[in-house]
Amino acid sequence: MNLKDSVVFITGANRGLGLQLAKAALAVGAKKVYGAARDPKSVTLPGVTPVQLDVTKHDEIAAVTREYKDVTVLINNAGIVRTGGILADDSLEQARAELETNVIGPMLLSKGFAPTLKTNGGGAIVNILSVLAWYSQGPTNTYSMSKSAAWALTNGLRIELAAQGTQVVGAHMGYMETDMTAGYDMPKIKPEDVAAQIFAALAEGKEEVLADDLTRQVKLGINAEIPAYIAAARAAA
Ligand SMILES: NC(=O)c1ccc[n+]([C@@H]2O[C@H](COP(=O)([O-])OP(=O)(O)OC[C@H]3O[C@@H](n4cnc5c(N)ncnc54)[C@H](OP(=O)(O)O)[C@@H]3O)[C@@H](O)[C@H]2O)c1
Repeated sequence: MNLKDSVVFITGANRGLGLQLAKAALAVGAKKVYGAARDPKSVTLPGVTPVQLDVTKHDEIAAVTREYKDVTVLINNAGIVRTGGILADDSLEQARAELETNVIGPMLLSKGFAPTLKTNGGGAIVNILSVLAWYSQGPTNTYSMSKSAAWALTNGLRIELAAQGTQVVGAHMGYMETDMTAGYDMPKIKPEDVAAQIFAALAEGKEEVLADDLTRQVKLGINAEIPAYIAAARAAA
């Protein structure tokens, strides 16, 4: 798609990957960038219009999809991770929180903005997923549940929005240098690199971004006799 003069709506745009996506949108010549956040005062990047949005509040989703009729690109970026695993005492509460933020919010925003994207010529939706859509690693198993579901959401949206010409991009990445992985000592990709890859994919009409080596290896390995998600369990035995 042509990104110059696009109107980009980004959730969780105040920090982390969302902030880098906002910078990248301005860099490619977006006409307008809506930076949505739970606290709009935390959206301080010049050139970005702050918007109040908690993606778990369905009335706020209804309000923004009603109000912003010029949007051509929706980026579902806001996300949370909880640790503890499926057998933890509080796993129901934690999984529900992850599913509300990482799956139901993006679903309702996509559904709400779909007619606007159609009116505006098709446009695009980008869902920020994870390598953990295809791999579980213990403490973040309920997060993986949510990202697998968000992957299925992305694939379903792509089918249902094909007729109206909406490009639907699933962006997967391993560890990024953001607050989410603070304290984890491992190789991390820079969020600005990921943001650049996502805008390149939008410009080239691609459906998927595999942002780093870890993600590419895990995706390739899904066909292996012992894929990573089974090897992880054997290693844990
Ligand atoms: N970091 C990684 O290694 C990694 C890897 C793969 C995928 N991801 C995905 O990348 C996306 C961005 O994460 P990040 O790394 O930038 O994490 P981050 O630095 O922790 O930022 C998370 C963002 O999501 C927002 N958010 C959380 N819950 C929200 C809600 N209910 N409503 C609105 N906004 C909400 C946060 O806003 P507040 O400031 O209000 O909390 C913040 O802007 C997420 O979808 C995450 O799952 C991250």
